[in-house]
Amino acid sequence: TTTPLKVAVTGAAGQIGYSLLFRLASGSLLGDRPIELRLLEIEPALKTLEGVVMELDDCAFPHLAGIEIGHEADKIFDGVNLALLVGARPRGPGMERGDLLSANGAIFTAQGKALNSVAADDVRIGVTGNPANTNALIAMTNAPDIPKERFSALTRLDHNRAISQLAAKTGAAVTDIKKMTIWGNHSATQYPDLFHAEVKGKNAAELVNDQGWLENDFIPTVAKRGAAIIEARGSSSAASAASATVDAARDWLLGSAKDDWVSMAVVSDGSYGVPEGLISSFPVTTKDGDWEIVQGLEIDDFSRGKIDASTAELAEERDAVKELGLI
Ligand code: NAI
Repeated sequence: TTTPLKVAVTGAAGQIGYSLLFRLASGSLLGDRPIELRLLEIEPALKTLEGVVMELDDCAFPHLAGIEIGHEADKIFDGVNLALLVGARPRGPGMERGDLLSANGAIFTAQGKALNSVAADDVRIGVTGNPANTNALIAMTNAPDIPKERFSALTRLDHNRAISQLAAKTGAAVTDIKKMTIWGNHSATQYPDLFHAEVKGKNAAELVNDQGWLENDFIPTVAKRGAAIIEARGSSSAASAASATVDAARDWLLGSAKDDWVSMAVVSDGSYGVPEGLISSFPVTTKDGDWEIVQGLEIDDFSRGKIDASTAELAEERDAVKELGLI
């Protein structure tokens, strides 16, 4: 089809935006299908955003059909088919967890309402801004007319990090690794699961055969990778987060590979004992903009404990935003 897909990006003048917009515009999302960008920022960041738009213009991307920028969600989200909610309020000095949740709550309440009233009927919403799972829950709850399955939070970066770590450990290519799973929250409690992953068709946990490495090296390396990047680079992961945001949206819209699955945080239907209604990461297959949780995986006691710990944290975050009246 040649109708441009209308793609909204919030926080477009930020670090992730600076990588994400160019990937979207150059065809990483949809190949030759044209896209139109709708970029939302807070008013003080609009001048910076104008500079980014000048650079997008200067790339003369053949499939970029138009760009609109603004600070009003009702205008920017009008008719959008895909909304990538990247902009969020980072934790500032002296800010308590409750302050962070309220600041982000205000953003995602307003954006959920705006999407509810003006987005296209087929809209899909991906939340990258942290705390991503709970921000997605807030937006979803404030958009009662949009089906709940249209919301997801990004755990694809964690998924990609896990693939990369396993490839390095086993000497395999990243393309040899399938069926990686991130369970739970996009936070340090997430559970990257090797018991169902495969390396060249062989079970990854059996192949590695080293529970010590799995528990004390692999899981913490993946779960704390964000902090390690900040330590090394002096600012948080941005290009890799943008790349994962593109991977997640592309697979959602165009479908995951036949013999594989991806990790996405989506609303729980109670599968694998994850409390219904939480936005938690699962192994999912995707097709034509829909996802399905992979069913029937055996969960041993070790994995059970890890999944329960991360979903307990999600339930706590949900209770905290409920208490603040955000959902
Ligand atoms: P950044 O601080 O460079 O950019 C955020 C942008 O959002 C700023 O330009 C800010 O003006 C804008 N913004 C704030 N409130 C807004 C609102 N109400 N509407 C529209 N725009 C708004 O941050 P960066 O590095 O681009 O990261 C963005 C978010 O992504 C952060 O919350 C970060 O923690 C999160 N993140 C998530 C990852 C994931 O895997 N889920 C990985 C890496 C980052």
